Amino acid sequence: MVLASPLLPQGAETMEGAPMSKTSLILDCDPGVDDAIALFLAFAAPNELDLLGVTTVAGNVGASLTARNACMLREIAGREDVPVAAGCERPMVRAPIDAGHFHVQTGLGDLNIFVPRKDVETIHGVDFIIQTVMSRASGTVTIAVTGPMTNLAMAMVKEPRIVGRLAGIAAMGGARSEGGNITASAEYNIFADPHAAQVVVASGAPLVMMGLDVTHQVRASEGRIARIATLDTAVSDASVNLLNFMARTELALGNGGDPPQHDLCPIAYLLAPHLFTLRPCRMEVEIASSLTAGHTAVEFRLGDGPGPHIQWGTLADADGIFDLLTDRLSR
Ligand code: RIB
Ligand code: CA
Repeated sequence: MVLASPLLPQGAETMEGAPMSKTSLILDCDPGVDDAIALFLAFAAPNELDLLGVTTVAGNVGASLTARNACMLREIAGREDVPVAAGCERPMVRAPIDAGHFHVQTGLGDLNIFVPRKDVETIHGVDFIIQTVMSRASGTVTIAVTGPMTNLAMAMVKEPRIVGRLAGIAAMGGARSEGGNITASAEYNIFADPHAAQVVVASGAPLVMMGLDVTHQVRASEGRIARIATLDTAVSDASVNLLNFMARTELALGNGGDPPQHDLCPIAYLLAPHLFTLRPCRMEVEIASSLTAGHTAVEFRLGDGPGPHIQWGTLADADGIFDLLTDRLSR
């Protein structure tokens, strides 16, 4: 069952379930091999997404590398019309922790690295978010977050008015029934900046949260990768390179060979919400305990408090999501 999402124009959907009007989107990310696949999908959907900008943050690798990587991926996708603004270089409170053990030191696996033609904007990523949301009509800008939530949280602290102006947030983060992937109880994006996640979760802005419970259902099998390989374009070749790298790395880590596509989920949701099942919830982020910091306490018992502003992803149509990705990359 697809719940009406607070992020999408109510009722306006195409036959395949995509939102009829374009979604004005800022994509905040920490590329990152799976962020790259999410970026490629966003770049390949100009008829559905008015991609206002990409903001980058320290996460999988350092801030200068995530910014460079976003500019590289933008060039491969031929979307230098989309500005990239580099954001925060460290979490709000805790010490930085990267995920270089998975994304390796470049942040993009074994993809050939080059110096992008077009560099980042001079504006800081946090100020880009504030400026974009404050300069456009209230309720028209959506933000997707596929890394630590530092930039969005800092923007909310610096300019609290953006909370009420955002159409909504589609984020990858957290875990409930799946358990953690960086500690026993925490998923990486939330663990990397739990204070930022708590600021965003507690803000009251409409939030669709794709945690490991749902992203672990969306795996790049050999067959799905092979279909993308048949497209034979610069983007599909880079995607296949990244997906095969993830497959080898997951195998080496003993997690099986079909790598979950975490960051693809929020973007696929914005394009085709019918491919996901969401459940309203209350949520808190554990901050105090060193053992469980970054844990997302997801409560489906809503009580009689204010209406839930958070929707938790519980089911995904993985075949539909890879059909969507392959179709958009083929255009
Ligand atoms: O836990 C998955 C998340 O952590 C993804 O965003 C991936 O890029 C890693 O940063
Ligand atoms: Ca990420």
